[in-house]
Amino acid sequence: MSKKIALVICSTREPRLNPFIARYVLDIISRQNCEESLEILDISEQGLPLYNEPAIPSFLPEADPTPHYVHQHTQAWSAKIRQYSAFIFVTPQYNWSIPASLKNALDYLYYEWKDKPAAIVTYGGRGGGKAADHLRGIIQGLHMNAVSISPGLVVKVTTLESVEGQQIGVEDKGRWRESGAEEQVSSMFSELIEKVHGH
Ligand SMILES: Cc1cc2nc3c(=O)[nH]c(=O)nc-3n(C[C@H](O)[C@H](O)[C@H](O)COP(=O)(O)O)c2cc1C
Repeated sequence: MSKKIALVICSTREPRLNPFIARYVLDIISRQNCEESLEILDISEQGLPLYNEPAIPSFLPEADPTPHYVHQHTQAWSAKIRQYSAFIFVTPQYNWSIPASLKNALDYLYYEWKDKPAAIVTYGGRGGGKAADHLRGIIQGLHMNAVSISPGLVVKVTTLESVEGQQIGVEDKGRWRESGAEEQVSSMFSELIEKVHGH
């Protein structure tokens, strides 16, 4: 069975840009040949309240932490994350950092993330570089295997209504192509795949 890679949608408000950006990233990386299967994983669909487990995830048994969580929502999240071999976090920048929804989802688990390759794609008014820096620190704390290239997509769309039903604004896509962001996404994915294959 082929390994699975998750493209994680990290913002949870409605409406939001994140599904459109994740789809854009998926379209680019789907052009590259790889034996792994790519799946969208939306944090807003996981039913995770603000962190409420009594145990510290890193203190649970490494080989099988899942049954040791008290809450059903955590057991389900743990089982889901264990299915994936690698992750691409596609996240907006919120107030110079990542959305609380992403930090919360990461905090719930430890061994499920540990040692797995992780790539970061950010977006925001200036590309979301500060969110990328914060997320890089967090995934380092989780001992994930971080990809060095993190593309930052500058988003000029100000009204979400303007992207509803027609993917991301054509203007943004054109600018990303010209600025080399597409090539960066491709390079990022190549590096992620190398890590998945253990190079
Ligand atoms: C609470 C909040 C804080 C934000 N902070 C930043 C920021 O620090 N820098 C930035 O470039 N854009 C910021 N933005 C703009 C977002 O990057 C932009 O609205 C983007 O569409 C958010 O992603 P979403 O639609 O998937 O939620 C912020 C948006 C929100 C809602």
